[in-house]
Amino acid sequence: MPKVLRCQPQLLQKDLSGRVYIVTGANSGTGLATSEQLLRQGAHVVGACRRPAAGEAAFANFARLPGTAEIMTLDLASFASVRQFAAEFLARHQRLDALVNNAGLVAPEGRTEDGFEINIGTNHLGHFLLTELLLDCLKASAPARIVCLSSVVHVSRGATEITIDFDDLNYETRAFSSMAAYAQSKLANLLHAKELARRLEGSGVTAYSVHPGWIRSNFGSGIMPGWLRGLMNLALRPFSGMMGILNPEEGAQTTLHCLLADDAPQHNGAYYSQNSILYPQREHRAGGWPMRSPNPNAHDAALAQKLDAVSRELVGLDG
Ligand SMILES: NC(=O)c1ccc[n+]([C@@H]2O[C@H](COP(=O)([O-])OP(=O)(O)OC[C@H]3O[C@@H](n4cnc5c(N)ncnc54)[C@H](OP(=O)(O)O)[C@@H]3O)[C@@H](O)[C@H]2O)c1
Repeated sequence: MPKVLRCQPQLLQKDLSGRVYIVTGANSGTGLATSEQLLRQGAHVVGACRRPAAGEAAFANFARLPGTAEIMTLDLASFASVRQFAAEFLARHQRLDALVNNAGLVAPEGRTEDGFEINIGTNHLGHFLLTELLLDCLKASAPARIVCLSSVVHVSRGATEITIDFDDLNYETRAFSSMAAYAQSKLANLLHAKELARRLEGSGVTAYSVHPGWIRSNFGSGIMPGWLRGLMNLALRPFSGMMGILNPEEGAQTTLHCLLADDAPQHNGAYYSQNSILYPQREHRAGGWPMRSPNPNAHDAALAQKLDAVSRELVGLDG
């Protein structure tokens, strides 16, 4: 049975009062569990949600926690929404101790408001623009951290290593598959953190990517109807432990470690993984904080730099 990697208890008791965190996709799953823990430690948490009413409802349970919370609207599939969120945040706050780029989806064929393939457009390009717009505030608040939620699926599909297809980022010429598009976006999340770490070296802002584990959450609702996910959850429940399926609180542990561990900055740009039976090779399945991704493309500095340059242009920040 895979062992769940857990934060050291003393990290989860650190006093975070006065610190400001943004968590995207804070109304559900690992984003909600991460927010709850930060609030328990006294932080101010900005829950960035595309459905603010869902965020308010989810955070209503946290009213008694010592921290303070604020729900703001953010639709990562719209650059206009990302820009509006950043402008409003910067108008309200002078500091940002950490940005948790947590929101994510696996979606059927579709486009963002700005015309990009929906998986990479939401999971990577939306977060890329958000990060760039908040970078000066993060630098001014240093030491500060950026955590990008990736996934074990960034490694491979069958025998093929995942890469970024710059010739057809938006699946205009190749056959579309939700899982392939999602995997490409999750490699982009990992490379984003890696390149941020390189670019921000010496600034006091550090960046990490995370596989949070296989979590029982709303994830997958875009490609699987609710009743089918319910049925699957029920059928899998007896095997949950064996398969390493986690509850959201366990799924938040890797992100919380990257946010709170004193030694994380020594591993700037690294990939941190919860256990996963989905790693092709047994030796990786225990996960690691940090661990070396088995995908060679995750270590390709030129690929990370190209992704940075292309993303900058696509989100309209070039020049
Ligand atoms: N669950 C897993 O097993 C697993 C495994 C590996 C990696 N991950 C990663 O972990 C992260 C969190 O997933 P989860 O399991 O917590 O899933 P979840 O319960 O489905 O939560 C995802 C969050 O992302 C939000 N979101 C989706 N599209 C958005 C958009 N356009 N703008 C803003 N927010 C948006 C969702 O908002 P709505 O509620 O409005 O949809 C929700 O709050 C994701 O990045 C995912 O790729 C999950």
